[in-house]
Amino acid sequence: DKGNHRHFMAKEIHEQPEVVAHTLTHYLDMAAGTLRQPFEPAVEWKGLSRLSVSACGTAYYAGLTAKYWFERLARLPVEIDVASEFRYREAPMPENGLALFISQSGETADTLACLKYAKQERQTILSVVNMPTSTIARESDAVAPTLAGPEIGVASTKAFTCQLTALACLALAAARARGTLSAEDEIRHVQHLIALPGLLAKALELEPEIERLARELSKASDVLYLGRGTSFPLALEGALKLKEISYIHAEGYAAGELKHGPIALIDEDMPVIVVAPHDALFEKTASNMQEVAARGGRIILITDARGAAECGITPEATIIMPEMDPLFAPIVYALPIQMIAYQTAVFMGKDVDQPRNLAKSVTVE
Ligand code: F6R
Repeated sequence: DKGNHRHFMAKEIHEQPEVVAHTLTHYLDMAAGTLRQPFEPAVEWKGLSRLSVSACGTAYYAGLTAKYWFERLARLPVEIDVASEFRYREAPMPENGLALFISQSGETADTLACLKYAKQERQTILSVVNMPTSTIARESDAVAPTLAGPEIGVASTKAFTCQLTALACLALAAARARGTLSAEDEIRHVQHLIALPGLLAKALELEPEIERLARELSKASDVLYLGRGTSFPLALEGALKLKEISYIHAEGYAAGELKHGPIALIDEDMPVIVVAPHDALFEKTASNMQEVAARGGRIILITDARGAAECGITPEATIIMPEMDPLFAPIVYALPIQMIAYQTAVFMGKDVDQPRNLAKSVTVE
């Protein structure tokens, strides 16, 4: 049932404040403003030498974002790869290692193959899954659920933000167990997580503006997405979402890689979508943006009021996000990324819920 929405994808985008809140209640003690104690899933984070993550597509980008959180908050080294590469690499895995698999369906063939390999390598298996009865959930030692509810649209939206939410909570739990998070910092980060559903609701209000922007984007044949730090995986996710439902060619790049190649593509025909909350890396991204502007590039900037004031150029369009703490900002910045893809594809008359050549669950290699 699509409710009042034209597509499942629209319904699922709009459900995000609710399902992220639901997912948070699983991991947080809302009244105390802390992580739940005991924290489920119970994982031995303390003596861990490495976390090895594998997943596919959007779930992989959730893992790539979480790498920044596990490393920064818990000082835990993270190795991450797409499942279809990891499974054939014969990668050595550390003694007493933890392997993390992220999957909405819990049935993705390549991700499951990695899980089986990690088992042979005697890793503890942790999975972040949306389908509690799935094969990946059943094969795991510990499951960290996402409570997104069924996701029908082929393009993942609410599963992604719920994966990020669960992973943020896991990174905090790891940090607490490893002694890298003070009680005050735990409370501060948990407050930021509790603020997410309200911020997601605010981000949804940007839809009319994004609809206007989408009309312009629909004329493009190529779009470049740039981001740094935790905005880099979002640039990759933005490009994936746009290409899979609008069939416009798009690429995501780490902003710092611009001058190592992709800057050659810049001209007045290719929109460049820059994801840049005003965080510690903002100035670096702003200078990349200025390089694009100096070459006549068309910039669409997704930032906050401060970023808009301090970017040093006049972008073709600016999407102004609410103010928030930068650490978990990707969870909120995912929404304009999804809405841009959705509105562009709808304007172009594409079948957003059933894009050509794609299946919801990839159970063959
Ligand atoms: C993109 C998308 C896919 C899935 C990928 C993994 O919008 O939906 O890239 O994220 O096929 O699927 P799961 O999470 O079911 O393992």
